Amino acid sequence: MNLTLRQLRIFEAVARHLSYTRASEELHLTQPAVSMQIKQLEQAVGLPLFEQLGKRIYLTDAGREMERYSRAITALLQEASHVFDELKGLKRGRLTIAVASTANYFVPQLLATFCQRYPEVTVSLNVTNRKQLLQALMENEADLVIMGQPPGNLDLAAESFMENPLVVIAPPNHALAGARAIPLHRLEQETFLVREQGSGTRLAMERWFRENGVTLLTPMEMSSSEAIKQGVEAGLGLGLLSLHTLEMELALGRLVILDVERFPILRHWYIVHREGKRFSAVAQAFKEFILNEVTQIVALPTLGSAAAQRTGKQSPAHG
Ligand code: PGA
Repeated sequence: MNLTLRQLRIFEAVARHLSYTRASEELHLTQPAVSMQIKQLEQAVGLPLFEQLGKRIYLTDAGREMERYSRAITALLQEASHVFDELKGLKRGRLTIAVASTANYFVPQLLATFCQRYPEVTVSLNVTNRKQLLQALMENEADLVIMGQPPGNLDLAAESFMENPLVVIAPPNHALAGARAIPLHRLEQETFLVREQGSGTRLAMERWFRENGVTLLTPMEMSSSEAIKQGVEAGLGLGLLSLHTLEMELALGRLVILDVERFPILRHWYIVHREGKRFSAVAQAFKEFILNEVTQIVALPTLGSAAAQRTGKQSPAHG
């Protein structure tokens, strides 16, 4: 059936007034224009919608059916427009974000505050490593990504919002636990458990040791920070992880941070998106929320005093 929304609107006015004259006045159209649209609608339906008896017009059976459908269509359109208004107004939007596995140690806390503020927003969170995140960005699979500094050769906009110190961890009974200012080259005698290829932590670690002329023994690769922490606790070797991942183990005394010279490696977290990406209201609100409020919500575990002095921070001794 080939009809237009304009014809339905005109039909609805004529059916309501049962008068072409009053309908045309309401719609600011001429009476012949209204009659013409009704005639076209009747042709589309294949049945008369009105009948004239004396001076008055009445709806036919087909006209009454058309009135019912026309009301339903109008109501659905109004509902759709309401939904779109809400989406524009941020009430019921959808947020699709992808975050580095290391960032997932603080992102749920942020989402809790954000979702409390916008309870009808739905969230899709993809947690993966740096390499996969860059791919998600290139394939436009996420509104926003939280990761370490992205490479400069891609078409990306990135803003940093928080520090991400990387530290060396050991079990509390390790020979170096409690030692002060451990020389960097002393680490060459130790075995390290490292994150998988494609991890931002792994990349930063390799680059940093290379730049500092240190060669590590890294016979064991593990695909999550959790696995590394368990391995270090079990005495398989030392680890190098973001301080963000260590809150519980440090608090429980299961792991300690070694006080190695020139540590921590100071990195930053970035909120990243494709250059020129058109944001929904929700994505825009989330980005602003991250840039303005993260540091009030996320607290890093404290570093040991020597390391804290090196980063210019005051904090109690730790392990
Ligand atoms: P990850 O860290 O990929 O090692 O989890 C992300 C990053 O630091 O970029």
